[in-house]
Amino acid sequence: MELKEAETPLPVRTAIFPVAGLGTRFLPATKATPKELLPVLDRPLIQFAIDEARMAGIERMIFVSHPAKSAIERYVTHDADLDAQLCAKGKTELARGLAADALDPGEIDVRFVMQDQPLGLGHAVLCAADDVLPGPVAVILPDDLILGETGCLSEMIAAYGRGGAGHMVATMQVDAEAVKSYGILSVTGRDERVLWADGMVEKPEPSDAPSRQAVVGRYILDGSIFEDLRDQKPGTGGEIQLTDAISRATPRVGLSGFRFSGQRYDCGSKEGMLRAILAYANSMSDFRDVIDDHNRSLLAAE
Ligand code: UTP
Repeated sequence: MELKEAETPLPVRTAIFPVAGLGTRFLPATKATPKELLPVLDRPLIQFAIDEARMAGIERMIFVSHPAKSAIERYVTHDADLDAQLCAKGKTELARGLAADALDPGEIDVRFVMQDQPLGLGHAVLCAADDVLPGPVAVILPDDLILGETGCLSEMIAAYGRGGAGHMVATMQVDAEAVKSYGILSVTGRDERVLWADGMVEKPEPSDAPSRQAVVGRYILDGSIFEDLRDQKPGTGGEIQLTDAISRATPRVGLSGFRFSGQRYDCGSKEGMLRAILAYANSMSDFRDVIDDHNRSLLAAE
């Protein structure tokens, strides 16, 4: 793709959180607890995603949920009764923390829309179409946890529009063998952390992969994505795939990748969740001793 003069893109004001999936890889835990509320130690995945969107200055957050997952709505909302109980017990600091985490309607415009059947990520995003603010939209998959100094979405918004691409996807370099598990960007050039691309290939064999830049769960999408999703045919697994609609639109709106600076954990898988918990615990002085003790006892048992 030709590099265009830097243009000022429209601001990204809306973030969509698709949270309606079944979470089958985490059964039985997800039988009664939504995957997005599974904790990394004591912090639910959805809270990390909310914090990232808040840090990026998002004005409206749209949660695409399922009627059986009402616990998510309860979680993100301030709980005045719990607050009062904690304060009565003198646990005011805890109460303050919970109030700061909760979404305050005076600060953020919060919407819940239902996806009655998990017909795919593309379908979930389409469910938010009537509620988005004008301009490009961000999509955050809460089970892709990205830890780092700067929020991934903040970094992407700062870089969005460079080169004129309407769709931007977060990417990270993976091992050659791992390309089989991701959408892989077909990279045509780069400008620091921004990668110019002319398409994506879903789960290629290593020998066919156009690069080793894997797409992960953060997107900034041109507003035309909703029109494209409306007539998107079902793809892999019979689901409406977001990546199919992005690929189809690439010649028209352009595509770029963004190599974020943080560390990504696939918390939709048990291995990724375990890695995230260990990394998170290790970053806190309170738990470092526990990890050291555990490592020492493993070594002693060898
Ligand atoms: P995943 O495909 O990882 O989630 O979707 P899943 O289907 O719930 O999990 P498994 O594979 O059965 O274990 C990534 C995100 O997209 C949402 C999920 O809730 C998750 O946050 N999603 C997925 C939807 O909202 N709707 C869908 O139809 C599919």
